Amino acid sequence: MSVHIKSADEIEKMRTAGRLAAEVLRMIAPHVVPGVTTGALDDICHDYITRVQDAIPAPLNYHGFPKSICTSVNHQVCHGIPGDKVLKNGDIVNIDITVLKDGYHGDTSKMFFVGEPSIIARRVTQISYECLCLGIEMVRPGVRLGDIGFAIQHHAESNGMSVVREYCGHGIGRNFHEEPQVLHYGTPGTGLALEPGMIFTIEPMVNAGKRHVKLMPDQWTVITKDRSLSAQWEHTILVTADGHEALTRLPDDPL
Ligand code: MF3
Ligand code: CO
Ligand code: CO
Repeated sequence: MSVHIKSADEIEKMRTAGRLAAEVLRMIAPHVVPGVTTGALDDICHDYITRVQDAIPAPLNYHGFPKSICTSVNHQVCHGIPGDKVLKNGDIVNIDITVLKDGYHGDTSKMFFVGEPSIIARRVTQISYECLCLGIEMVRPGVRLGDIGFAIQHHAESNGMSVVREYCGHGIGRNFHEEPQVLHYGTPGTGLALEPGMIFTIEPMVNAGKRHVKLMPDQWTVITKDRSLSAQWEHTILVTADGHEALTRLPDDPL
């Protein structure tokens, strides 16, 4: 168990990487409309990250992942591969962006509504957003990872939804994924105690139905076993001396 504590210089680079990842989500928003393919969204993000930001899309070739972003639609939980899927009115889609800039990673995702979503689609999107916010608001030195996981799990389950357990948040820095694992469920008073200079993601996946998931034959796309809708939001969070800083939040973003 070794959780890397970032230096002031590393934190500055993580701020830059985080801002760039957030700016990709902002750039792509107007393109997420009925009729667009997830592959087209990937192309636009790839070009923006490489040409405008002079950065690297970290997912591309990561453990063999074939594209530059992840697009997970409706009952897809995470790691959806962009392709010829055409987005249609009523779909909900998570777009997950990770950029590598100057040796450091920024990782963030959010949900987009394609046209007019159903009530349940809005609800699972809203509850997963609230789960992320609740988790972030708890981050300060001394808080334990089990406290954060419990708060997220409790909020989802008390709203009749479930939390995916097979995938979790993660430390991030020079590596895309490093220690610690940040589970979105847990027991208060257990797990790692946070210290200033730690940087990790919180990225709860919340299902409208049961928590169980299944890996598709493409070996990447994760879906809900019961085909219920799933939603996820993600930020990269720095533990500061007196609280936290969301490195992937732009100045005029909510939260
Ligand atoms: N961005 C995802 C995360 O939040 C990881 C994607 S890995 C990939 O951790 F290979 F699918 F891109
Ligand atoms: Co992540
Ligand atoms: Co991500």
